[in-house]
Amino acid sequence: MKQALTLPRLKAMKNQNKPIAMLTAYDYPSAMLAEEAGIDMILVGDSLGNVVLGYDTTIPVKLEDMIYHTRAVVRGAPGTMVVTDMPFATYRLGPEATFRNAARLMQEGGAHAVKLEGGAELADEIRLLTSAGIPVLGHLGLTPQSVHQIGGYKVQGKSHEEAEKMLQDAKALEQAGAFGIVLELVTEELAAAVTHSISIPTIGIGAGRVCDGQVLVYHDLLRYGSGIRDKKMVKSYADIGDTIRSAITQYVDEVKTKAFPEEKHSFPLDQNSSSNSVAKLYGGEGK
Ligand code: KIV
Repeated sequence: MKQALTLPRLKAMKNQNKPIAMLTAYDYPSAMLAEEAGIDMILVGDSLGNVVLGYDTTIPVKLEDMIYHTRAVVRGAPGTMVVTDMPFATYRLGPEATFRNAARLMQEGGAHAVKLEGGAELADEIRLLTSAGIPVLGHLGLTPQSVHQIGGYKVQGKSHEEAEKMLQDAKALEQAGAFGIVLELVTEELAAAVTHSISIPTIGIGAGRVCDGQVLVYHDLLRYGSGIRDKKMVKSYADIGDTIRSAITQYVDEVKTKAFPEEKHSFPLDQNSSSNSVAKLYGGEGK
């Protein structure tokens, strides 16, 4: 079995300029396929709320949802580092609750690490978790759990002041013990500045070419769903939604026209069976 990435190896990848490939996954088969494809790290993102559970935002996602889906992902990708998002508010209710919730994601879910959205204001929480052996991935830039405060899903850190603050936030996360930082929807220049200013890896999504790694949402990469919007930051490598829809359309059609099942999909009565009444009732229908 493949060996999961360790934090020292992750840091070495940054130092050796080896790009880190991360992808979200939310269930057993998707995690299994990601591991088979050689992904470095899996994120059980709370984007689960949008792409799997059908919510408009990530805000309704519960800790129990994350635990449930993390368990399935860990079963599917036992040789891959799995990071799980702490959902909305679960790390803003004081140190005890933060620790309990993160510990549940690891103990009950099987996550190797957790991810929190926010900057320097989370330094105490990150220190607490990392001192207790819970690795933390930070997340700066567009932080979807704060979408109502931000006022939409838009590029962050465009002004000089915002960029300066994000740089300071990144340094604060590093000092507090985070092992890496996701940079979401920030300018390429700012992502490059952050990447060069800290010793831990940056993982970009809509953050340009200079990050130490990249992360994409599974359903975006595969266009897995219906009506997936094109996003500038996403490259889709397949159109699974289309493939699934036409396969199901064909199945519906074949059931309606009795083209499926065929004889080869059916189980015949044992030739030596004494159940003549069944044979009579069947009467060779469909042959
Ligand atoms: O929830 C998620 O999938 C994420 C990624 C977009 C980084 O946080």
